[in-house]
Amino acid sequence: MKFQSNAKKYLLGVIGGGVMAHAIVGGAAKRGVFAPDEVCICEPDEKKRAALEEEGFRTTTEARPLAENCAYLLFAVKPQVFSAVAEELRGAALPVLISIMAGKTKRAVRTALQAETKIARVMPNLPCCVGEGMAGVDVSELSEEKKPFVLGLFSAVGKAVEVPEELLDAVTGISGSGPAYVYLFLRSLVRAGMEQGLSEEQANALALQTVKGGATYAEQSGKSYDELIAAVSSKGGTTVAALSSFEEDGFQQTISRAVAAAVKRAKELSE
Ligand SMILES: NC(=O)c1ccc[n+]([C@@H]2O[C@H](COP(=O)([O-])OP(=O)(O)OC[C@H]3O[C@@H](n4cnc5c(N)ncnc54)[C@H](OP(=O)(O)O)[C@@H]3O)[C@@H](O)[C@H]2O)c1
Repeated sequence: MKFQSNAKKYLLGVIGGGVMAHAIVGGAAKRGVFAPDEVCICEPDEKKRAALEEEGFRTTTEARPLAENCAYLLFAVKPQVFSAVAEELRGAALPVLISIMAGKTKRAVRTALQAETKIARVMPNLPCCVGEGMAGVDVSELSEEKKPFVLGLFSAVGKAVEVPEELLDAVTGISGSGPAYVYLFLRSLVRAGMEQGLSEEQANALALQTVKGGATYAEQSGKSYDELIAAVSSKGGTTVAALSSFEEDGFQQTISRAVAAAVKRAKELSE
């Protein structure tokens, strides 16, 4: 699908050219969502601007003229920097806004900008850097004509699921913070492997491929998690011994408590 910039100079303006912005626009450009020169990124760091320009993106250091010259504007700055950006943009004629800033509600963004513009709020995650991201996307304020661009942008770097804004804290607790849970599990598995005599390199190779292969098979087989667990378990066998140990130690409760803590923190940080 070819998206129109509707007489604006750029299809997409981006405020902040850091890790997430680069992952998202870089991935979307590679997937043909837009050409790099349809995107202009406002970034104070000269080195980051030079690297983005090398990939064909336009760059600037001035947010306001950019905001007034694009069809969509993505906020990819840290939440604590946003008030300074909002001050610079106050009173500007703003396009459709897309915010990935953790903990910033649409209401807080609107209040800071003092603008009655349409806002999409998105919670992406780090694996979008390798095209395997997962994003919760609230596009409820956008017209049917504008929604596909936002969904297309995040689908280009992984998967995107539409949720109402109230559920974005839950998304944060599962997929936003989730990559860290996976890394924690992997690190624990590697350490356990080393305790059993494997080298770190061996344990890491075994753990990483097991998590990757396990996830791919879960996705492709169409089987439920109970069926998959049963397929690896035989009565009186090794897997059952490990699973019983997990259960005795309250594995499900541990996960539920951790996710609840992340969701609670996301709510506390929301403004
Ligand atoms: N990383 C994640 O896993 C993740 C997941 C979900 C959501 N998010 C959200 O994504 C957003 C970006 O995170 P990130 O990890 O990409 O951060 P980041 O790498 O620090 O990127 C932010 C960029 O904004 C630049 N910047 C600072 N002040 C600016 C200004 N006034 N105007 C324009 N640009 C400015 C920074 O430049 P300097 O470095 O020179 O200051 C930096 O390059 C955050 O709001 C975060 O909550 C991140």
